[in-house]
Amino acid sequence: MDQIVIRGGQRLKGRIPISGAKNAALTLLPCALLTDEPLTLRNLPRLADVDGFGHLLNQLGCSTTIEGSRPEDFGRVMTARATTLTSTVAPYDIVRKMRASILVLGPLLARAGEATVSLPGGCAIGNRPIDLHLKALEAFGAEIELASGYVKAVAPGGRLKGGKYTFPVVSVGATENAVMAAVLAGGTCVLENAAREPEIVDLCNCLVAMGAHIDGIGTETLTIEGVDRLHGATYRVMADRIEAGSYACAAVITEGDVELVGAKADEMEATLAALREAGATVEETKSGIRVAMSGRAQPVTLSTAPYPGFATDMQAQFMAMATLGAGASLFTETIFENRYMHVPELARMGCDIQVKGRTAIVRGVDHLVGAPVMATDLRASMSLIIAGLAAQGTTEVNRVYHLDRGYERLEEKLQAVGADIERISAG
Ligand code: EPZ
Repeated sequence: MDQIVIRGGQRLKGRIPISGAKNAALTLLPCALLTDEPLTLRNLPRLADVDGFGHLLNQLGCSTTIEGSRPEDFGRVMTARATTLTSTVAPYDIVRKMRASILVLGPLLARAGEATVSLPGGCAIGNRPIDLHLKALEAFGAEIELASGYVKAVAPGGRLKGGKYTFPVVSVGATENAVMAAVLAGGTCVLENAAREPEIVDLCNCLVAMGAHIDGIGTETLTIEGVDRLHGATYRVMADRIEAGSYACAAVITEGDVELVGAKADEMEATLAALREAGATVEETKSGIRVAMSGRAQPVTLSTAPYPGFATDMQAQFMAMATLGAGASLFTETIFENRYMHVPELARMGCDIQVKGRTAIVRGVDHLVGAPVMATDLRASMSLIIAGLAAQGTTEVNRVYHLDRGYERLEEKLQAVGADIERISAG
């Protein structure tokens, strides 16, 4: 397994190109199943999860062709086409490796009137149930059965009907599955308390480009008037606001000055507010967002929440930044029940963090000491990289396959702004 080795102490200075958003790409790719015409996605990030999703689409009979990239994009262009579906089954061996596979459930049900998808199971950060996905689909007429670890869903008569569902808990994935199921329904579907993440706006905008009728995009109430068919489209994946926020934390902890090229301030306002609370200079530029810092970060008090609140996907990265802060920072993780896996690893580097249930208190220390550490999940891995960039000595991050799921060419991007970082391939 590859390892990333960092010799800390370099201030990050320069421009970091931000890739297409992983969490947008993973909900845009299954849209190809909704039509027999080609869907071309630009600015698609080179990530393990994106490759994995392409493999799943192929298993269902959807061709995927990579067409290089355009100068104005950092990512690749991929055209996916499901002329006919050869399968409506997403098998366990694929779903268990990539839980976002569950996002083929809604599109398969909409296109083929049936779907059999392995239950994704839990992961490091929580048990990740999919009950809300299923309840929303049932509200649109789906008949759902759970058998031998699989969800078997059928649309009676081959087509979902209109309906209304109010989410008791905001769920990004359940909102995405429900929207993708509803666009071909034989009626109007209404989703209340829907997730409002920018990635869902991206999904809705892509579906509208394919001919869907969706009102309330960006709000917590989505009204989808089903149509008989969708057509192909070309759509550019939005910039990754979590990648951008991650590199912003790296800039702050190293007292650097970076421009996050392609980042959109209006998609990450809570993150930018937290950076300013930490004392960073944050300003929009004509090509992105500049983040600069001198001195130690000020303490922050952050509680994760659904968008537009402070993103749970940014919690570990801000915690790493706070470890060298001038005081005590307080974090509350309200979304996932086990999202402090980075804490014991950060402690190995000399951080002072106390976790009590959903809350963590981080007391700033004078310095961190590089150490061998273990990545446990995607964002926890990034917190270890951020700490390593500021630590004295060498930090070796193991199990970097976690990072490769969500950060495209991470060491290249960091080397380009002065980090002393390299990947050691384990063959
Ligand atoms: C998406 O996961 C993201 N993944 C996650 O990013 C992100 O952390 C999360 O949204 C929250 O923003 C992708 O987009 C691929 P949820 P998702 O459904 O959809 C509970 C990363 O690091 N819930 O919004 O799985 C759930 O347990 C990843 O990029 C149910 O109870 O998250 C959680 O407590 C990690 N029943 C809360 O809702 C359900 O049916 C929010 O989960 C679904 C969810």
